[in-house]
Amino acid sequence: MISTPPSAHKQGVDLDVACEEAFCRLIAQRTGIVLQDHQLHNLRDTARRGCERFGYGDCAHYLHELQQSQGLTTPLEYLIAGITVGESYFFRDSEQIDLLRNTLLPEMIAAKRASGNLSLRVWSAGCSEGQEIYTLALLLHELIPDIEKWRIHLRGTDINSEVVSRAIAGRYSEWSFRATPSVLRERWFVPAGNAYEIHPEIRQMVHFAYLNLAADVYPSILSETNALDLILCRNVFIYLDRQTVQRCMSQYADCLLDQGVLMLGASDPMYYRHTGLELVQTKWVGYFRKEGVQGAGWSGDRRAASPVAQALAEQSCRPVAQLPASVHALQPDMAGIIKLLKCSDWAAALVQLDAVCQPGSESSDFWQMKAKVLANMGRTELALQACERSLQLDIVNKHSYLMQGMILAELDRGPEAEEAFRRTLYLDRSFLEAHYELAMLRVRAKDLPGALKSLANALKIAQAGDPQRELHNAAGMTYRRFAQVLQNEIEMLRDAK
Ligand SMILES: C[S@@+](CC[C@H](N)C(=O)[O-])C[C@H]1O[C@@H](n2cnc3c(N)ncnc32)[C@H](O)[C@@H]1O
Repeated sequence: MISTPPSAHKQGVDLDVACEEAFCRLIAQRTGIVLQDHQLHNLRDTARRGCERFGYGDCAHYLHELQQSQGLTTPLEYLIAGITVGESYFFRDSEQIDLLRNTLLPEMIAAKRASGNLSLRVWSAGCSEGQEIYTLALLLHELIPDIEKWRIHLRGTDINSEVVSRAIAGRYSEWSFRATPSVLRERWFVPAGNAYEIHPEIRQMVHFAYLNLAADVYPSILSETNALDLILCRNVFIYLDRQTVQRCMSQYADCLLDQGVLMLGASDPMYYRHTGLELVQTKWVGYFRKEGVQGAGWSGDRRAASPVAQALAEQSCRPVAQLPASVHALQPDMAGIIKLLKCSDWAAALVQLDAVCQPGSESSDFWQMKAKVLANMGRTELALQACERSLQLDIVNKHSYLMQGMILAELDRGPEAEEAFRRTLYLDRSFLEAHYELAMLRVRAKDLPGALKSLANALKIAQAGDPQRELHNAAGMTYRRFAQVLQNEIEMLRDAK
């Protein structure tokens, strides 16, 4: 008879059925992930290893600690890294890839060229080790001969910080190439021991970050999940509960530009009623397109406002001459605009802001909000002009410098963006978002020590602040949650170094 090691006796038998069910409930509440029976052995193994790693006497103690904590703490992260299924490979699902290569991407590229707006923004949500978004980078390289003239923003996010670190490192085993044409592997991957490293030219096109689809805020300029042309969220919803999938789909609609596309995996569940997403079925593949004004979207036009938004907009759409003499009388509109911003109704918010940003009744804050709205609609040049106007009206508006920096970063104007963030920090050393944005800028410039320094500054501020306080630029994101995100980003960058 084989005897069980003492450590396994001590901690292994502790995950009884009730405890296991409680772990599953907690994971579902915080991440939307529903564990299937065949995944339970992973949960048991990870819980046992977690006990050793974090010094919990048994699994019940581990569970208790998780129940007492809020959001995603390091011990919960550890559990999630052990139970999530990160299976992915390059050029996965040939029918979807063909649709992207032969139809959807060429259409988007042509529409952008026609409008003179050479930019594309794509998000791989649940990106695992990055194979999906790197595949997209390779496709774009193939399809855009003058790619150096374009601003291409490719973002990959995942809840599992271990896989994100691996995505940043860009190193893959043979198995990841099982659907990759050998000519592409030879052209874009460099052998490194028994693995392959992605070519720096492709790697630098993509930025990765930690994001929990069930709890984090999107669309958000902060996580670069706004004004998107394409969202890939393939083979993620199969692991999530219905409520989370519904919420994700409705938020994805807000992240997309009009006519923007959402692609799920072939077996993913979908709930898209009342989201503004329309299912388009081709012979082999289905995908979603965001409804909008006919012909608008990739060329950057406005989308139609909802009836509620229209009503709100009409309220403040009177000619300026008819508005009360005092600009302060516009204050009630501020609440209406903030409401529209919170529900990402950019078109309606813009109508209101156009009404209040009139000569003689201008305020720096309204112009700053207008900049935010325009940035969220993908109208970056106009957004930049709105920032400049805001700063003419108030040269010490730190929020406008921050917004200016974010837009300049989006336009790949790194040194000017850095200058704007520095000005923000000159006005307020403890401006959390400015430290964070500076860190992201440094990540893009491959200055990892600089990025880690700025992230550490941000973390210190987030930990010292009121945990319930919300970030100014990301409604719903509390200081406590942001501290956890920062901690993850720091670990990911350290691991990827
Ligand atoms: C099977 S992989 C899919 C990878 C890639 N999209 C593909 O199709 O090849 C599923 C990924 O979803 C991630 N995931 C699961 N729940 C998530 C959540 N709540 N937020 C963010 N990512 C999540 C997992 O960590 C995992 O990396």
